[in-house]
Amino acid sequence: MAASRGEFSSRIGFIMAAAGSAVGLGNIWGFPTQTASNGGAAFVLVYLVLAFCLAYPAFMAELLIGRYGQANAVTSLQKMSRTPFHKRFAFLVGFGGVVCAALILSFYGILAGWMISYATEPVLTLGSANSAAAWVVEQSMARNILFTALFMFLTVFVIRRGVEDGIEKWSKRLMPLLIVLLLVLIAYVFTLDGAAQGLNAYLNPDISRVLEPDLLISALGQAFFSLSLGTSVMVIYGSYISKNENLVSLGAQVTLIDVSIAFLAGLLIIPAMYVAQAQGVAIFAEDGSLISGSGLVFTVLPSLFDTMGSMGLFVAFFFFILMSVAALTSSISMLEGPVSYVVERHQIERKKATTMIGVIIFLMSLVIISNLGVMLDFVATLATEYGQPIIAMLCCVFVGWIWHRSEILKELQQGNETVEHGFFWKIWPWYTKFICPTAIAIVFIHSL
Ligand code: TRP
Repeated sequence: MAASRGEFSSRIGFIMAAAGSAVGLGNIWGFPTQTASNGGAAFVLVYLVLAFCLAYPAFMAELLIGRYGQANAVTSLQKMSRTPFHKRFAFLVGFGGVVCAALILSFYGILAGWMISYATEPVLTLGSANSAAAWVVEQSMARNILFTALFMFLTVFVIRRGVEDGIEKWSKRLMPLLIVLLLVLIAYVFTLDGAAQGLNAYLNPDISRVLEPDLLISALGQAFFSLSLGTSVMVIYGSYISKNENLVSLGAQVTLIDVSIAFLAGLLIIPAMYVAQAQGVAIFAEDGSLISGSGLVFTVLPSLFDTMGSMGLFVAFFFFILMSVAALTSSISMLEGPVSYVVERHQIERKKATTMIGVIIFLMSLVIISNLGVMLDFVATLATEYGQPIIAMLCCVFVGWIWHRSEILKELQQGNETVEHGFFWKIWPWYTKFICPTAIAIVFIHSL
């Protein structure tokens, strides 16, 4: 089996793939939205601190489990287990992550489908297909099914090709495209009236809000979602890293890219909102807070694009392509979790397993689409506010309390011989053992 497993062919391949998983709608939509509804820069500040102090250590735990186990999440965790009880616990955590990834994909695919549908609108308008252009941006069951199916098809298409030829190749193509699109859009928005005011709202923190419990919970949840934690995804990506690579620095680089792109997305979205306001678009809700969530992406920004005349068609197109690309490099990682599990544990051939699981998840999406108002929120909350933090916490418990310290060190030393004498090894083991699980638990319990 070892010979037939995939592996990232280069460090840049891994960085692009893991950053591709991390950078998604969470960064470009979720982060600016949360920033808008949580007092601007205060949220940004807290997010930065939590991402590096809590999410990065937990991220390292998951990567390490995977690279040690060289297998899907369940098998990797079981390799670290010494008693039958550990083994059952390992199954629970690993399989829980796989299910969580599938649940997330089932609603993420719908949101991503909307991004594609909004990207086709300017194209249809340019081609004077006006009724079709109106149809793709109007809520309807048929539209949702069509574009979710299209998006799932793309995801399955990439994952069927495996690690090097699918995940790595496409991440290396799509991530640079994403960064270029983002920078071009920021540069353009900065030339417009109102952008400076938005920049000010984004970067001037109201320090008094920094310790608000709701803000802390949102920031932690956002950081965990953004690094794709608690879903077996980073375990499986870790298992595709060569033993010659320095995990500590790879993990840090991916975290840095993820956080930077979220920050950049804020530089685009928040100023764009104030530009929209300068054009007469309403950007504040009735309670005085900035409009966030789907209203921001599907109402405020499109109204802004409308004020730009024919230039707006191009800006809208590039913006929604940016969103779609970000979503695709993330969704492939969500599908890889369940696929690697089924391929390795049930000896099903990869292409077959991918199509099968893709279809199952698409059926789950159909259930959500059939009752969008209730189900979307329900599944999203279940998976991201309960599933992810609990499983991420249990991964830390595994590494901190079940795995032997000497074995952890041995694994870290591969590709990083001097790790024992560095700062990371002085802090991280006890940090993962005590601080991470406690902090996650506190935030979680509080959110109940
Ligand atoms: N991190 C991605 C984002 O910010 C979402 C994501 C990708 C994800 N893979 C995941 C979330 C796995 C949870 C689990 O949009």
